[in-house]
Amino acid sequence: MQAKLCNLIFVGIFVFGIANGIPLKSNDEEEARQFIENASKSLYAFHDRMAEDTLESETEKLSSIFNAIDTILSKTDAMIDIIRNASLLDQTEFKDKELNYALKKLKKMGDLAVLGGERIFSTLAAKSNLESLSSNKDIEGYKNDSIKLAYFPDIQKIFATSNDPEEMKYYWNAWREKNDKWTMSNFLILVNSIKDAANFTGISGYEFWMRDFNMTQMHKVMEQIEPFYRQLHAFIRHQLNKKYGYSVINPKGLIPDHLFQQVLAQTWTNGSILDEIFPHKHLPQYTEILIKNNFDTLKLFKMADKFYESIGFDPIPQSYWGSRLKMKSTKDEGDCKATILALTSKVFMNYCHKMDFRTFLQAHGYMAQIHMAMEKPHLPAYYADSYNLEYAIGETVILSASSQKYLAKVGIVPSPEFSEVVFMNRLLRQSIHAMLNIPVYYVHTKVMAELFEGKFEMIELNKKYWEYMDKYVGVGPPGDREGNSFDFPFKFYLDLNENHQARKFMSEVLSYQFYMKLCSIADQYSKERLQNCDFSENKDAGDAIKKMIKLGSSKPMREVLATLLSEDPKLNGESLLTYYFPAYNWLTENNQENNVKVGWTHSDKKIDNVKLPEEGNK
Ligand SMILES: *[C@@H]1O[C@H](CO)[C@@H](O)[C@H](O)[C@H]1NC(C)=O
Ligand SMILES: *[C@@H]1O[C@H](CO)[C@@H](O)[C@H](O)[C@H]1NC(C)=O
Ligand SMILES: *[C@@H]1O[C@H](CO)[C@@H](O)[C@H](O)[C@H]1NC(C)=O
Ligand SMILES: *[C@@H]1O[C@H](CO)[C@@H](O)[C@H](O)[C@H]1NC(C)=O
Ligand SMILES: *[C@@H]1O[C@H](CO)[C@@H](O)[C@H](O)[C@H]1NC(C)=O
Ligand SMILES: *[C@@H]1O[C@H](CO)[C@@H](O)[C@H](O)[C@H]1NC(C)=O
Repeated sequence: MQAKLCNLIFVGIFVFGIANGIPLKSNDEEEARQFIENASKSLYAFHDRMAEDTLESETEKLSSIFNAIDTILSKTDAMIDIIRNASLLDQTEFKDKELNYALKKLKKMGDLAVLGGERIFSTLAAKSNLESLSSNKDIEGYKNDSIKLAYFPDIQKIFATSNDPEEMKYYWNAWREKNDKWTMSNFLILVNSIKDAANFTGISGYEFWMRDFNMTQMHKVMEQIEPFYRQLHAFIRHQLNKKYGYSVINPKGLIPDHLFQQVLAQTWTNGSILDEIFPHKHLPQYTEILIKNNFDTLKLFKMADKFYESIGFDPIPQSYWGSRLKMKSTKDEGDCKATILALTSKVFMNYCHKMDFRTFLQAHGYMAQIHMAMEKPHLPAYYADSYNLEYAIGETVILSASSQKYLAKVGIVPSPEFSEVVFMNRLLRQSIHAMLNIPVYYVHTKVMAELFEGKFEMIELNKKYWEYMDKYVGVGPPGDREGNSFDFPFKFYLDLNENHQARKFMSEVLSYQFYMKLCSIADQYSKERLQNCDFSENKDAGDAIKKMIKLGSSKPMREVLATLLSEDPKLNGESLLTYYFPAYNWLTENNQENNVKVGWTHSDKKIDNVKLPEEGNK
């Protein structure tokens, strides 16, 4: 991997080498304009060279590089040169407002790359170490030290199938004990890199971390969904208590995290806490249907592509399949995700081998990134990102593609309607997935934001984490947490440098807002059964998406969002609540009937400060 990166850096220096400018006078408007134009060309050239270079080479282990590509756009001195000059120019108030805005955007593009060569290597290594926490096969089996397991998929599978809380508690602890020191030292490297890159760019660590995400808006959404969340939490705790008894879970207290993880792992499987009310076997078995009909992974991706074509996006050139868009050459590892390079219209995607219904849905999300990137070849490099909206669009398309109407349209199921009981079976599972994750994304984002704000010291991080898990999620650790404990779940570490958790929060919430809007544009909005809206084949819906995405970040996010969400261009939890309203009614009635307490008493567990690794001992 190191040799590969050196190669990329060499390419970068080569490309930038030709484009080097003249010494800048910081008040010459024309010169500044020329500078950003040149910078844009250099950045595009660099990106394309990098993409080509990667395309030509072996794909194994490159995934870690692709994952980092957004943030490491360049690791070259030339990149630093551009950002430094942009920062310098940014201190001048030019008369041309747009020029000032462009300089701000350009400056931000530097991201962690501004740290320069060696620091980038150590930061990338730290990032990669944190991400491989899920796939290292190094956890001893429960009561069997002759087997070694990875968190994903082995331990995840145990969480999905075990009925033994002691076994789950063992794995919850074992994975953390195995990793705590190693995790902490890599985490520190990443945090310090973010702080230093922020300082270099002239912004605070908090601003760097939050990027275009908005804590105020996120907090508002949390308040909006709280009544729903409390009903869902109460229902889940009640079911867990029935299953495992009082010695394992207090029916008025927090849900222990190992059981919370189990509920999440079992959302779509047999044997969950829902099964006695809504048996899993009554759900349409989509994966089996796909297998029976000889689907393969490529076919799922092509179907996803067809969705976008049907709403008016240009087809992906035939030649891309198998070259720019292809299956990974290595076998799936950990919670395998496609690796995507889609900063310019020269897109690239490596997808995993797995073929199931989840892949079918994920493919619809991935193809959003590909199609959105191809919609804006005209934008200068510093406007090319779209505030992460392509992720929300992907989630929106997934909502449409998972509707029974769509599944019937593409021939996966025979009937475009569910029976009432299947409808609720699915909606509750869907709401568990969405509503249990959103507060967790929030806590992950908030605790880091406050760390960067300096609201507390690093040694208190684990304490704060559990304080917020208690307050916002109603979840606590399985026992006291001592000494080195560092308890974030593995998902927290994925794309940590990009604040992936805030992106998940935003995409999840916005996707329901987009969905409602596109459904009404497509005249598919039905008050009785809006969950069965499918806007595929509707060109007006496609045009609305295009209009928004073509802007990139050439306008502030509010204005970009306003092209679709005219009246209310910000995060709003109302759409989510509307979508899940039948589930809310069901939960509330069920809780009342069973006299279930709603809300929770707080934790009695002891959480120690973290012991930081000694300096130089990393
Ligand atoms: C921009 O690029 C042109 C052509 O390479 C060069 O002549 C000019 O000096 C550059 N201007 C700046 C401000 O970098
Ligand atoms: C940045 O500014 C320095 C000093 O003014 C100059 O030498 C250099 O060429 C500039 N770099 C770019 C990429 O414009
Ligand atoms: C431990 O796991 C190994 C490998 O799966 C198996 O062969 C062995 O029987 C297990 N031992 C016990 C005590 O369960
Ligand atoms: C960057 O670091 C320096 C030295 O520690 C400090 O004086 C300066 O205020 C920092 N800048 C920002 C934007 O935080
Ligand atoms: C965050 O959103 C709120 C409410 O929409 C807005 O008033 C505020 O200016 C936004 N903050 C930032 C940093 O954009
Ligand atoms: C579902 O789980 C139950 C109980 O855990 C088990 O008896 C049954 O065989 C499982 N069914 C399938 C299809 O896995």
